[in-house]
Amino acid sequence: MTAMLDAAEQLSRADLEALQLERLRTTLRHAYENVPFYRAAFDAAGLRPEDCRTLADLARFPFTAKADLRDNYPFGMFAVPEADVRRIHASSGTTGRPTVVGYTERDLDTWADVVARSIRAAGGRPGHKVHVAYGYGLFTGGLGAHYGAERLGCTVIPASGGMTARQVQLIQDFRPEIIMITPSYMLTLLDEFERQGVDPRTTSLKVGIFGAEPWTEAMRREIEDRFAIDAVDIYGLSEVMGPGVAQECVETKDGLHIWEDHFYPEVVDPFTGEVLPDGEEGELVFTSLTKEAMPVIRYRTRDLTRLLPGTARNFRRMEKVTGRSDDMVILRGVNLFPTQIEEIVLRTPAVAPHFQLLLTRQGRLDALTVRAEARADATVADREKAAAAIAAAVKEGVGVSVGVEIVDPESLERSVGKIRRIVDLRESGTG
Ligand code: DLL
Repeated sequence: MTAMLDAAEQLSRADLEALQLERLRTTLRHAYENVPFYRAAFDAAGLRPEDCRTLADLARFPFTAKADLRDNYPFGMFAVPEADVRRIHASSGTTGRPTVVGYTERDLDTWADVVARSIRAAGGRPGHKVHVAYGYGLFTGGLGAHYGAERLGCTVIPASGGMTARQVQLIQDFRPEIIMITPSYMLTLLDEFERQGVDPRTTSLKVGIFGAEPWTEAMRREIEDRFAIDAVDIYGLSEVMGPGVAQECVETKDGLHIWEDHFYPEVVDPFTGEVLPDGEEGELVFTSLTKEAMPVIRYRTRDLTRLLPGTARNFRRMEKVTGRSDDMVILRGVNLFPTQIEEIVLRTPAVAPHFQLLLTRQGRLDALTVRAEARADATVADREKAAAAIAAAVKEGVGVSVGVEIVDPESLERSVGKIRRIVDLRESGTG
């Protein structure tokens, strides 16, 4: 196996940290000299790039937030002349302007390398066929997966998202070993396999590489069981690169190794911004170490996780992301994440893995209703039992009372990309 690893994957911690420091100092200088936003932010903090003498010194530098990228829309965060930007991606914000990111030729090369490394860690090998069902376009999922799979020497099937019946057909006919897709869209494919009368356990697929949205261990078990595949987690975000910032190794399935030679992670207290020691949960923050077109310094991801020591690789791991601070619902003082409900829904026998959370306002109090789909064979009595079981498990596990509606099979919206778990009816006055 080691013969196949990149040189960086075999560095000792000490050599890795030396490389990180050198790259970090170069990145700080590059950002300061070429991006007015960073120059102003460092100046305001009374810092020069050369004040970073150790990796720990990075904590003295200011954070960058999504709002800073929006304020500099579209190209204000670029650190190279526009003509040197070879590609642009953007993430559709829910409000207003999208967040724009750019890549030089070398950035695209790095990106393909880290995605190739990710697919290999997932069990992919040269010659495998990779069905890419992440959306192609401004979203980084499709093209990011695509060039990484080619870089590894795989055969890419660029299916993109949507046209679900055809996805099933392509998997049947082209016989890919690997699929790259959001976990929620994989469940949509599951329904379609069953609709077409094809047993999903009999496909050619061996590994699924799932990411772009949070998913739980319970969801992993469901997908692995129903498709007879290994399901591993891939993480990334456009601002930092796209997919391939971190990847779970198939042999351990114990969280995601961060490709630390390119992306330097910190976990901070989301309220105070203080850096937390490894092992403590907080908000993940990234500094790019090699990016040219759009270096990011201490970018606040809003994703909540912990940093853990390496296992299958020397790189540190991040625990599966439990949720984004943006997705947190505060219900009568109790914090709740959709992933907590996912775990409960998935262990309730009479319901399918499709659910949605409805937020409404009743008088002056917020209320949450869990809507979950009944399995096709569930009786009325099964449904009633499931509703009571879910309500009790939420009360017990999360500590708050919620309503539960068990709805008919196939009645909830299906995902073709990232699923929206929370439907917030509070502002519209519907609730
Ligand atoms: O979702 C990049 C990507 C594409 C990653 C395909 C993996 C696979 P954005 O659209 O910028 O980029 O969204 C980034 O998605 O901050 C997380 O909140 C969430 N996210 C991405 N991967 C995971 C994951 C892509 N494995 C945002 N687990 C991130 C949990 C994830 N959340």
